[in-house]
Amino acid sequence: MRRLILNAGQLLTMTGPDRPRCGREMSSLGMIRDGAVLVEDGTILAAGLRELVLKHEAASSARIVDAGGRVVLPGFIDSHSHPVFAGPRLDDFEGRIKGATYSELAERGGGILSTVNGVRGASEKRLADDLAALSQRFVECGTTTLEVKSGYGLDLETELKMLRAVRSAAAHVPLEMVPTFIGAHAVPPELVGRRDEYVRRVCEEMIPRVASESLARFADVFCEKGYFTVEDSGRVFEAAAKAGLGMKIHAEQLSHSGGAALAVKGKASSADHLDCIEQADVEALAAGGTVACLVPGSNYFLGKPYPPARRLIDGGAAVALATDFNPGTCPCWDMRMILSIACTQMKMTPAEALLAVTVNGAHALGLGKTHGSLEPGKKADILCYDARDYREIPYFFGSTGALWVMKNGVIVHHREDIEL
Ligand code: NIG
Ligand code: FE
Repeated sequence: MRRLILNAGQLLTMTGPDRPRCGREMSSLGMIRDGAVLVEDGTILAAGLRELVLKHEAASSARIVDAGGRVVLPGFIDSHSHPVFAGPRLDDFEGRIKGATYSELAERGGGILSTVNGVRGASEKRLADDLAALSQRFVECGTTTLEVKSGYGLDLETELKMLRAVRSAAAHVPLEMVPTFIGAHAVPPELVGRRDEYVRRVCEEMIPRVASESLARFADVFCEKGYFTVEDSGRVFEAAAKAGLGMKIHAEQLSHSGGAALAVKGKASSADHLDCIEQADVEALAAGGTVACLVPGSNYFLGKPYPPARRLIDGGAAVALATDFNPGTCPCWDMRMILSIACTQMKMTPAEALLAVTVNGAHALGLGKTHGSLEPGKKADILCYDARDYREIPYFFGSTGALWVMKNGVIVHHREDIEL
């Protein structure tokens, strides 16, 4: 099916070099006034100035989508989330309000391990149904691609169950899902005190099995005091590379442990969180190809200082922004809220923030060649916000989601008060 999007008051094409955009490059949105996009069978045929797009031979036979002078941009790419779980953690939420810390809650039987108990007891079908239902919330806010982590199983069967649930949910919903295996999310209760043995199982049993069933594209590890060391993380990276999986790492979230440096050395696609980075990490990230994926929704929810986006960008690193949607530290699926936090609390400009949730999000998932910008040959994942100036997107917060969202050339969501 052919579609022609016309009257984009501001078309943010995000065109630029074919790699993560770093430092000052993050300010360049490739904006075109009175832009148009021509789409066929899920792929962009042309995008740019209306007169040029209309010259394309396929333009005359396409069905028109009138953007009415509003902002049109690539669908958001949320490159870090943990959305497969079996219920919210409301006791943790209330306990934290009353003063308990993340680690104290974990010691009291809350935290990641309480979600592990829930997921171990849930059927694959229930996990898949819940994820499919949840995916609609992401799409309404403009997310067209979502990275989805396992990591609440912590044993082979439950991790496989989670990843199979992701596969079956993804087959039924318009939201594209990129699965990541994070067996090394916590040491399971049955192996407390035997972390080494668990890392061995992750590397020798779980990663090869996950890869052989093509259940994940990445392996991730929570590199943090009380969870996994840099050495453990290096072992996970080696096993991932051997199995043909890409690499990601939760690094420097609660303390500085050296995970960011390892990510750059191991050529990981992204190093995520990075709250406690040091100057040498900024320099290493700027010099290497690893995207710094910041997830400030978790800082907001936990009431903690925000990750140092300005230091990273001013130091020449490539920054992506993601929700980190999960039941413990960030029950927020709305990328617009993340944009708001990034601008108001972390002093990213609206342009930098929007680039971070599109092009750099795509690169954090190894999808830079096909996703994240509006250019001929790329996926027709496009969204329209009810805004005349792109800065309105992070400016208004706590408001309604996208006006319409196109995934693979098909309008998969539109607000009830508009007709398309
Ligand atoms: O990204 N840091 C580790 N993982 C998650 C939290 C998961 C949980 O608390 O359930 C995070 O914040
Ligand atoms: Fe996370």
